[in-house]
Amino acid sequence: PSPPRPILVPDTQQPQPQVFQFPIQPLSRFHGTSASIKRPREVAHFSYDSDHNYKYDDSGISYYHPPALGTDLCEGFDTFRHYEDTSDPHLDSLLKTLIHKEKETGEQITGDFVTWRGMMTKIMTAPYDMFASFTMRATRINNTIYLEEDFASKSADRASEADPPRPSNPHTPSREMMTYWGYKFETISMLPHPVNHATSPSVLAARTTAQVSNHAQHCSIVKTAIGSHSLLLGGEVDGLSRPKPSSNSSSPDAPIPWVELKTSEILPRNPRHHDILKFERKLLKFWAQSFLLGVPEVVVGFRSKGGVLQAVERYETGRIPGMVRRGTACWDGNVCINFTATFLGWLRGVVGEGEGVWNLELRKRGGVVEVRKVGEGTGGIVSQEWLEWLRAR
Ligand code: A3P
Ligand code: MG
Ligand code: MG
Repeated sequence: PSPPRPILVPDTQQPQPQVFQFPIQPLSRFHGTSASIKRPREVAHFSYDSDHNYKYDDSGISYYHPPALGTDLCEGFDTFRHYEDTSDPHLDSLLKTLIHKEKETGEQITGDFVTWRGMMTKIMTAPYDMFASFTMRATRINNTIYLEEDFASKSADRASEADPPRPSNPHTPSREMMTYWGYKFETISMLPHPVNHATSPSVLAARTTAQVSNHAQHCSIVKTAIGSHSLLLGGEVDGLSRPKPSSNSSSPDAPIPWVELKTSEILPRNPRHHDILKFERKLLKFWAQSFLLGVPEVVVGFRSKGGVLQAVERYETGRIPGMVRRGTACWDGNVCINFTATFLGWLRGVVGEGEGVWNLELRKRGGVVEVRKVGEGTGGIVSQEWLEWLRAR
């Protein structure tokens, strides 16, 4: 008789984690008037100082004053003080700020979702970006979903996006140089104090040669709502176009005059459809990022291919979707908002209370957001400090 054959028994003790899928297409289901949105209101803010140390204050606020055209944004690249997180920042500084604010006011600050604005920008723009990809982690505590970027996959992305060898054109600027242009543009466009008649021209001119650093930041935390979901979003704001109205002023609900600074390649004198399409696709990112935090104005620094600043244009955030609708119509802000409202509702149905850590993944050209449970506990998404605060409050 032949020896007994090994029998393969399915391991029912260890089932594969269930995968929940949210297909992005067809977008037709998100057409029509947009889900209700609440204008973002700032609930708290914080800064990082010039060494990137956390400060519960507004010391990191900058003020916009038009930069000098003709500035070469490459200048000073070799002395750039570039800050990049070396360990996972999670939601720590956002939550730390909420604790400070709650202690100060004695009132709880709550939302259905708590996350960095950048996560919402990625979700909101996914319908119109085939190449969008992200990995996020979520956990749910007391009916609030905390959502963060997966730090490991972010670092991996960065490495894979490093400059590919480009022997064909040695004049093509490196990725690091293009990143530098963005921060250089901020440096030559901002001042630590509002400009007034007493501001000397030399103070303005000194910005052109100042060392560029991205260590210091100011972050605004807003409460907003998309559809029936309330959100607490924290994000960096580049600066103010005029002094911030004090909260006890006559119109406490007036939007804060933040400005978002962006750089973009200048369009040719006679742009072809392709050129306009490229720019209007970028406008989607500019709009979503600013819309989510209630930033009313985007200032775009247009540069040459080589990085010389040639023009500055100011755009009202609220008018950007209309501009694009009348232009190439390559995206529709209402679809982005409806998509986001539907997706958040779906996510709330998937990510259960007290059930651990969930992974959200969208792969390039994947077209589907996949959500699966990957662990127990809260996975460090929220700080120990916050967990203790929740227990005590
Ligand atoms: P640009 O937006 O002008 O390219 P932000 O615009 O969000 O305030 O960011 C400021 C600058 O940081 C950007 O300027 C860019 O230089 C750099 N930056 C932001 N996000 C980046 C990313 N994902 N990859 C590379 N650089 C980035
Ligand atoms: Mg910024
Ligand atoms: Mg900016």
